[in-house]
This record gives sequence, C-alpha cells and structure tokens, in this order.
Amino acid sequence: MTIDIATAVPVRHAAILGLGSYRPRRVVPNAAIVDRIDSSDEWIKTRSGIEARHWAEADETIVAMSTAAARGALKAAELAPDQIDLVILATSSQMVLGPSAGAIIATELGMQDTAAFDVSAGCAGFCYALANAANQVRAGQARHVLVIGTERLSDLLDQSDRTCAFIFADGSGAVVVGPSDVEGIGPVSWGSDGSQTSAIKQDKDFAQYFAEVEELGSDSVRPYIRMNGSAVFRWAVTNLEKGCRNALDLAGVTVDDLDAFVPHQANSRITDALARVLGLPDRVAVARDITTTGNTSAASIPLAMEQLLRSGQSKPGDVALVLGFGAGLAYAGQVVRLPKTA
Ligand code: UT7
Repeated sequence: MTIDIATAVPVRHAAILGLGSYRPRRVVPNAAIVDRIDSSDEWIKTRSGIEARHWAEADETIVAMSTAAARGALKAAELAPDQIDLVILATSSQMVLGPSAGAIIATELGMQDTAAFDVSAGCAGFCYALANAANQVRAGQARHVLVIGTERLSDLLDQSDRTCAFIFADGSGAVVVGPSDVEGIGPVSWGSDGSQTSAIKQDKDFAQYFAEVEELGSDSVRPYIRMNGSAVFRWAVTNLEKGCRNALDLAGVTVDDLDAFVPHQANSRITDALARVLGLPDRVAVARDITTTGNTSAASIPLAMEQLLRSGQSKPGDVALVLGFGAGLAYAGQVVRLPKTA
C-alpha cells in the first residue's frame, strides 16, 4: 500500500504586509571622499546621481541594522515576532561565514525555534528572498516571513578605489510577507550569468588571503570588493529591459498599470535608461533614493520603497515594478503592491 505524505495547505495569495528601514547615523557627502580618489562632487553626481551616502559605525552591525529595520516592518504589519515562521536575510557583506546572521537576528528579535537563513545573490538578493518568501507563504509552508536586505559594504571598500569607493554604502530594509485576499507579489523574473563573475567580485578569497599572510606577513593585502563599472553598466542597460518586461508579462500587467518603478539603486543613469526603454508613463513614480543613500546592494530596494512612501510620491497599495541586479551577474524582478510603513 502507498503511504500518502501530507502536503502543506496552500494559500492563494501573498503580499508585503509592512516595511521597515534603518539608515546608519553617519552621513558621508561626496566632499569627504573626492580627495582620496582624485574625483569631484560634480563627476560623482553626474556619473552616478550620488550626493551622499550613509556609512555604518562600529555598533551598526549587520545584525543591529537588520533588527532595527525588522522591528519597523513588524510594527507596520501589526505582527509580533512570535507570529513569524521564517527569517530570510539577503546580504553580501556579513564578514562571518557561519552561523547565518538570519538566525542571530531571529533570536535578537525574541523569536524561538524560528527557521532562518541567509541569501547571497548580490544586489539582486532582496528580490530573490522576496520571491522565496512569497512562494513559502503561497505553498502554506510559512504563514509570515520576514525578508531583510542589509549591507555594510563600507567594510569591503578599498577607500582609494575610484570605481567602488564612492558608490557603495550601508543600510537595511525589511518587509513582512504574509497571506492576502488579493495578490501582492507577482511571479519573479530572474536569472544569472556566471561567465561574468569578474564584473563584480571580492578580489581574493579567504584561502588565498590566508596563504598570502603566511607568505608575506604584514605585506599581505586583505580582500576588497572590485567592480568593472562599465561592464556592469553595459550589461544592465542592454539586458534588464527583457527581465522587466518578463516580470510585467508574468504578472499580467503593462507599464500603463504601474504606479511606481523601484529598480536597484545602482546608478541613476541606469534607472533613467530603463525608464526610457520601458516607456514608463510620466505619472509613474521612479525611485531615486541613490541621491542620498548611495548603492546599498541588497538593501537598496526596500530603502527606496521607504523613500517613495515617506516622500508621498507613492502610497500603500500602489502597483510597483521592482528589479534587483548586480554581482552574479544576477537579476530578479517582480510586480508588487507597496506596503504600509512603520
Ligand atoms: O550594484 C551593483 C551593480 N553596479 C552597477 O550597476 C554599477 C554600474 N556602473 C556604474 O555605475 C559606472 O560604470 C560608474 C559610475 C562606476 C563609472 O562611471 P562610467 O561612466 O562607467 O565611468 P568610466 O569607468 O567609463 O570612466 C570614464 C572616465 C575615465 O576617464 P577617461 O578615460 O574618459 O579620461 C575614468 O578615468 O572617468 C574617469 N573616472 C573618474 N573620474 C573621476 C573613473 N572613475 C572616476 C572617479 N572620479 N571616481
């Protein structure tokens, strides 16, 4: 006789129920960086759109920033920590390989025996985690999932690197995903291209670094994040239109149905190029959080959502296309309804 294994009881729809954010206290304007990289405020503003960024101080760890953002998301969703079944943290700058920061964050929030793990998908990480969370909820495997994107990229920066030192920044954004009467998170459009690994990467792995320390002692050089900026820029403006159109098609909507466009805050010129090729109507609010926040990788999309909602350009319930992209080279995008903020 065949034994039937029970399945979880699926729910029809998932949505983002609440959003929280944390921006580090220290604001670093372009003027504080330009001398080290032989640049200018004008060059950085025109080439990237960045005027200032936040860099974390010692106590603003990945766990601390995530916990603060998560508390905001729980408050906005009107849920207590013990109502969360799963925590997913997207990050590429946690300097400890194990245990997962997600597990520590869950405990910091007062959760007990809650599933938790970290996702590494570069600047696409938040959208990868969001897709995963929505599917866990729809499959009935978890009722409420906390999804967090957090980075301390300032730890990985060579402060004299002209390509990376002015772009990358720190911060955290979190959302709670849960069941909903109407769909709030469309199917994900995603992909990756490992042949372009060298476009953004940590320049040496830890095993190489430890061998170098053995051989060279204090002359050894620690690992840093490196980027071939123009290669990533070219890939983004030539390949991501397809990813966006696929996300719209999967959700059964067109650009005319959108209220907002929230791309990863990589470079305002990439945002402009995508808005143009997609033919976004003028009334669509376009996230431009990069101006004062810089490029916060896995944190940039929830932070940019928060900025749109706080400024009144968007409101809860608005239909937004979100798109994460970066190291991998990986991307992920979906059509969502914007949530309430704390
Ligand atoms: O978040 C993950 C995904 N990341 C991205 O999507 C980032 C994508 N890439 C970019 O945002 C851009 O490539 C950068 C903002 C990083 C660089 O802008 P760019 O327009 O691609 O600059 P470039 O590297 O092509 O350099 C153009 C010129 C060069 O001078 P010449 O050869 O034209 O005389 C560079 O030497 O700008 C010079 N340059 C700088 N000048 C002042 C390069 N970096 C700097 C700098 N300050 N920091």
